[in-house]
Amino acid sequence: MEKSARTMKNLKFYIHTFGCQMNENDSERIAGILSTAGGKISNSLEESDIIIVNTCAVRQKSEEKLYSYLGRLATFKKKKKTTIGVVGCVAQLYGSELLEKKPFIDFVLGPDNYNQISEIIQSNNEEKLNSTSWSRGYNEIPHEMTFRKSNISAYVTIMEGCNNFCSYCVVPFTRGREKCRLMQKIIQEIQCLANKGYKEIQFLGQNVNSYKDPDTGKDFSTLLKEANRVEGIEWIRFVTSNPKSFTKNIAAAMKEAQKVCHQLHLPVQSGSSSVLKRMNRGYTREDYLEKINFLRDLMPNISFSTDIIAGFPGETEEEFQETLSILEEVRFNNIFSFRYSPRPLTIACQEKDTVFFEEKKRRLIEIQDLQKKIQLELNESFIGRVLKVLCSGKSKKTSHLLSGRNEGHQVVNFKSKNDVTGCFVDVRITSGGPYSLHGEAINQLD
Ligand code: 5AD
Ligand code: SF4
Repeated sequence: MEKSARTMKNLKFYIHTFGCQMNENDSERIAGILSTAGGKISNSLEESDIIIVNTCAVRQKSEEKLYSYLGRLATFKKKKKTTIGVVGCVAQLYGSELLEKKPFIDFVLGPDNYNQISEIIQSNNEEKLNSTSWSRGYNEIPHEMTFRKSNISAYVTIMEGCNNFCSYCVVPFTRGREKCRLMQKIIQEIQCLANKGYKEIQFLGQNVNSYKDPDTGKDFSTLLKEANRVEGIEWIRFVTSNPKSFTKNIAAAMKEAQKVCHQLHLPVQSGSSSVLKRMNRGYTREDYLEKINFLRDLMPNISFSTDIIAGFPGETEEEFQETLSILEEVRFNNIFSFRYSPRPLTIACQEKDTVFFEEKKRRLIEIQDLQKKIQLELNESFIGRVLKVLCSGKSKKTSHLLSGRNEGHQVVNFKSKNDVTGCFVDVRITSGGPYSLHGEAINQLD
């Protein structure tokens, strides 16, 4: 049933984002679309006419967090008539099922359908709407609209989706097959960001190293070199890389393009070749270590981070020990570690999982304890050194300190006489904890 259409003008909208940086960037793009249509972004759930929940399906825990949040919204909607839209990966995965199970939701929208969002809201349709179709190409939304949270560092999505089908991973079913954005559009966006004074860009994609310009076929290494030429931008980073497709060509471009930070997030997932095979990762422990050593020879100051899954189905004690030993061998500057959880539609979730919950928990704790020790040692070795830091503002924990990141993407909290937010600054490191470095600003660089 159609109700009378409404205009977005002056409607207040609130966006809650779960999940990865791409979801953050998608929310910035959705905020841009809705403000361009006349809506007003709001920081208060209570005062909003529209609530958008941007969701993540990568692990069971992400989904559980969402359902608990939706429970709050259900109660809220009984008190105030609000339009509630659920968008992103969970919306894509469950579509109409979600609308049936949670009748207070007005619409669900998959990641390929965001350009319809203001139209859907303005149509004010009484019927629930499910828009979760796939598109074959990358869905360009004019970048000028993007409503960014930071005015120092910007996310720039370059591709979306994944063709790799790791056996545990739901992403190919939520983001679909790989879709790359035109290089020309990416460079235009970076130029526009540089004109606005942004200092750092971070390329985003589920698999950035398989980027290929749909027009010219130019690859990721060319994109890095082209981005390097944009004046004003000083640091370039990218996530996520797959070890399987991280080529020597990309490594060479990282070294050649001066602005590309010598920092790499390279998810290994497990240190055991047999587990990696069951995960369908397409590389062995030895292949991975060879890449790390090659990159360290090429860029001796390079900083690495990784993702680890603890307790993959059938993971034996010996296989788990190999994960601990790869952590010792590589000595990553940072890791993100997770307990394996079964995801719908994946191959791994059809296997019998013999590693029980408590055992997965134990393995995860062991991984995190070991890594904490490694990080403390690494961070303490920075004491006395001077690091170039891009200041992002006040430290979240201690408001009399400023905070930022160095080229290696480590968090640096520091004392400073002046507010150097948005600037590069030299910081002398005075102490190091497992998760951050501490120091004093000695010199503002711009
Ligand atoms: N269980 C646990 N962790 C997972 N990840 C992806 N799928 C799962 C799963 N089913 C982790 C991987 C990936 C990161 C984004 O999330 O480590 O790199
Ligand atoms: Fe998942 Fe593998 Fe794609 Fe990463 S590369 S998103 S782990 S399928």
